[in-house]
Amino acid sequence: MDETRVGTRLSGKRIALGVTGSIAAYKAVGLLRALRCEGATVSVVMTRAATKFVTPLTFEVLSGTRVVTDLFDAHEEITHLTIPERVDAFLVAPATANFLAKAALGLADDALTTMLLSVRGPIIVAPAMDGDMWSHPTVVEHVQTLRARGVVVLEPEVGPLASGQVAQGRLCGESTILAAVDAALAAQCDWHDQVVLVSAGPTQEPIDPVRFLSNRSSGKMGYAIADAARARGAEVILVSGPSSLSAPPGVTMIRVNTAAEMADTLFQNFRACTVLIMAAAVADFRPKEVAQQKVKKYGKADMTLELESTTDILTMLSAHRTSQIVVGFAAETEQVLSHAHEKLKAKGLDLIVANDVTQAEGGFGSDDNAAVILTATGEQRAFGLMSKRRLADEILTAVHEFCLVRPQRKFPVE
Ligand code: CTP
Repeated sequence: MDETRVGTRLSGKRIALGVTGSIAAYKAVGLLRALRCEGATVSVVMTRAATKFVTPLTFEVLSGTRVVTDLFDAHEEITHLTIPERVDAFLVAPATANFLAKAALGLADDALTTMLLSVRGPIIVAPAMDGDMWSHPTVVEHVQTLRARGVVVLEPEVGPLASGQVAQGRLCGESTILAAVDAALAAQCDWHDQVVLVSAGPTQEPIDPVRFLSNRSSGKMGYAIADAARARGAEVILVSGPSSLSAPPGVTMIRVNTAAEMADTLFQNFRACTVLIMAAAVADFRPKEVAQQKVKKYGKADMTLELESTTDILTMLSAHRTSQIVVGFAAETEQVLSHAHEKLKAKGLDLIVANDVTQAEGGFGSDDNAAVILTATGEQRAFGLMSKRRLADEILTAVHEFCLVRPQRKFPVE
């Protein structure tokens, strides 16, 4: 392929490329380069048989990331659970008859098949095998099973095969595979016509030039929502308080510090958005006076800080809305549902995500979270402990289902 032609079709998309033990495994190298040239970030997973045909190092160098070959080769960053969660689409090329059988049955005896059971985005499979194998009733049945489950199984091409046979079984061409990935991603983009404004992280309210009031928010939930909305086709603006996280790819990020800066920035961007998701843990109070110089301790046995309230940004924005959907969070330590319901009503929200932040697992700083969603139209949906990225998808699905597809609201909430 012509590497000077750098495409943007898959720009910002994250693709997992599963490679299984077919002689066509060498073609996956070209495919990886083609995916990269189209702008995708690619994580490669190889079966043990695939490594007999091409070394993992080849894929490692060309992908720029570690190649997963072993289910038990746990790595902090890349595991059989993190890859399916982080990618937008899962492509298996070439796929052997053995792989098709395992995938159809849900076997999970290696890294690739185990990952496949956790994938929520589109799965595209490009088989390659001998012609007799492709037409064997067992393979035909497994392909039917996978297709019935929504997996895109591409038709192999007719041509000369490694066995010398001329039959249907050749891995289909790069352009066909890329087009299938592109089409599968496009079909997933249920948020493609939305402009989503997301807030995340804490705010910092200065006391003096070196001290501030803040809270334990890490920003992980809001960043996960921004990432999920982008993956589902939305244009995303993320307004973040101080956080160590980096901007998800493809998301416009605006960093702020104080509640007042967050309020101004969200206000400026609110008119252009279609959905506001307010995941930030905004400080409710700030010091009334900010000392220009560092406050000194000498001669003071105690100290009193006088605080004043910040703007309740959600209430302010929901009062200014034209047609925007407004979603809030409720961080609670007791009576989670009743407090969340009060906030839903008081702040004029379409939907609220209630969290019990006292739980040891989930809540501030954690990678996981459990939540209950309440809507202005009276729906309730509970989610047990799961990764914040997965919860982000559940929240977007609920907002889509309850607020975007069925937008009729019955305000005020009773
Ligand atoms: N929020 C806001 N502006 C504030 C405080 C909170 O927009 N000044 C938003 C949060 O982003 C969240 C929702 O309001 O989406 C609820 O925040 P939470 O901290 O749970 O509740 P508060 O409204 O601050 O009330 P309380 O602290 O009394 O629970």
